[in-house]
Amino acid sequence: MTAPANIHTEFHRMLGRDAKESQLNQRGHVFWMYGLSGSGKSTLANALERTLADAGFQTKILDGDNIRSGLNSDLGFSDADRKENIRRIAEVARLFLDSGMVVFTSFITPLRSLRSDAATIVGPADITPIYVKASFETCANRDVKGLYAKAAKGGVKHFTGKDSSFEEPIEGDSDWVISTDEQSETESMDTLQQKILPIIRP
Ligand code: ADX
Repeated sequence: MTAPANIHTEFHRMLGRDAKESQLNQRGHVFWMYGLSGSGKSTLANALERTLADAGFQTKILDGDNIRSGLNSDLGFSDADRKENIRRIAEVARLFLDSGMVVFTSFITPLRSLRSDAATIVGPADITPIYVKASFETCANRDVKGLYAKAAKGGVKHFTGKDSSFEEPIEGDSDWVISTDEQSETESMDTLQQKILPIIRP
């Protein structure tokens, strides 16, 4: 993206990320959870936040339905709107990262190109994409929000996995994969915690 005209950014005078991380006694990082609606992204993000809070870490969750009811309430589910959705969220995640926070995002982020856009905005070294994997059938059976039933009757336009595509990571992607249709929530949590702690400890 080209720099906007007549804008003079002020980042250099602000207290830097190192100082913020020292204050918080942690290292900031963005854990970008993606996967189908109902795959367990929000459940895991919320459980992790509580566990990490007990261990003294400062965290922030950015969640699809929440952000889409505020900051991104003007966006729908076309390819262009999903791209703009992810762009804004990645920018917000970066702001929290600059404050030394441990950020969990919970967005479908259906395309590899969107995940790559997010990594470019946040900075590849500061983001870990985590594929929260569950099949369309599993998510449809869970159907916590009743959206799969509604989509089956044609009541949801551009529904991910039905009329709008979802790309799994491919071999060579360094994304972590957590299979929530094979593991219990406790197992997924244990795995994630063990991998996350070394990244965020000072
Ligand atoms: S993303 O594709 O742009 O990353 P995001 O995670 O923000 O999607 O929003 C997904 C949430 O919006 C879902 O969990 C679901 O509750 C709701 N939703 C509403 N319409 C759709 C749709 N057409 N496809 C997928 N999710 C939808």
